[in-house]
Amino acid sequence: APITAPDITSICQDAKDGIRNIATALRTTKCCPPSLGKTVKPFRFPTEKTVRKRWPAHAGTKKQVDDYRRAIKAMRELDDDHPHSFVSQAKIHCAYCNGGYTQVDSGTGFPDINIQIHNSWLFFPFHRWYLYFYERILGKLINEPEFALPFWKWDEPAGMPIAEMFLPESPNPLYDELRDPDHIQKRLIDLDYAGTDKDIPDQQQIECNLATVYRDLVRNGGDTLSFFGGEYVAGDSPVAGTDPSVGSVESGSHTAVHRWVGKRGTPNSEDMGNFYSAGYDPVFYIHHANVDRMWKLWKDLRLPGHVDPKEDDWLNASYVFYDENEDLVRVYNKDCVDVRRLKYDFIENSDGPFPWRKSRP
Ligand code: C2O
Repeated sequence: APITAPDITSICQDAKDGIRNIATALRTTKCCPPSLGKTVKPFRFPTEKTVRKRWPAHAGTKKQVDDYRRAIKAMRELDDDHPHSFVSQAKIHCAYCNGGYTQVDSGTGFPDINIQIHNSWLFFPFHRWYLYFYERILGKLINEPEFALPFWKWDEPAGMPIAEMFLPESPNPLYDELRDPDHIQKRLIDLDYAGTDKDIPDQQQIECNLATVYRDLVRNGGDTLSFFGGEYVAGDSPVAGTDPSVGSVESGSHTAVHRWVGKRGTPNSEDMGNFYSAGYDPVFYIHHANVDRMWKLWKDLRLPGHVDPKEDDWLNASYVFYDENEDLVRVYNKDCVDVRRLKYDFIENSDGPFPWRKSRP
């Protein structure tokens, strides 16, 4: 049977999975969402005619950057216990990834088995839905129906440095102090970062990054489960490094960026280096907007084997989120496979989205 998230406002516990140093954690491990006494509704596809166009974070127009800043500022100004608040949005990741929820199913459920949407084939769809609501909430906060998220375009040389707008310190709403200062100063991402700095010339780092993108999307992602990660169904508890396997992007460039941004020497690699705290850095959502784009690009390559999972256990896995109207909705993997139905897309270069295509390692 597919993984089924509970009504998140009734079944939730403090997070502890995957947090090495709970006592000294720099963010709260009480990650349960606020309960507004609502019942879970089915999801309805958006009906507006406009499509939100996500834009490369390093190349936004003034209006795009200003709107984004304004929206994050408005989100930070909400009371923490509002479901749309900056903290509530960050806690979603903690609750779904550090053991806040247990699995349910139509029968007895699995009250002893926590949900962990990473390290498995739920990785892409869960984060797609997460960002879908996050983007619409931000748009609503500034009353801008076409509001679209930026994406950290680390697959193209110009987009590899962390974007300028994240850098100036407080009161910049996009700033987060729990980032690695050396990396932020250097700015150029290492998509293959595994805890040790390479200290290679920029041009070499750029080539290495392009090769990593090629590796994650083509060489190591040649079939459905290599790309998405292994099957994860009701009753399973996935642990990194064991079954189910971790998908090529998730284990590769995705995790490298988390580790590269997170502050070394903190109790739990806060913020970006741990699931429970990653959502406190605005960069998290911008990184994941590009990870989400990788799913789309992978399919757009139209190589044999580049197809979404067809198993019922994948299609009908579901999560519960607060939507932009503060309603609780249940969403299914099968409803997120086409971004056009979700009314967003990505702005791509006119000469195509694959500058790394010739970077076969
Ligand atoms: Cu849910 Cu990038 O992790």
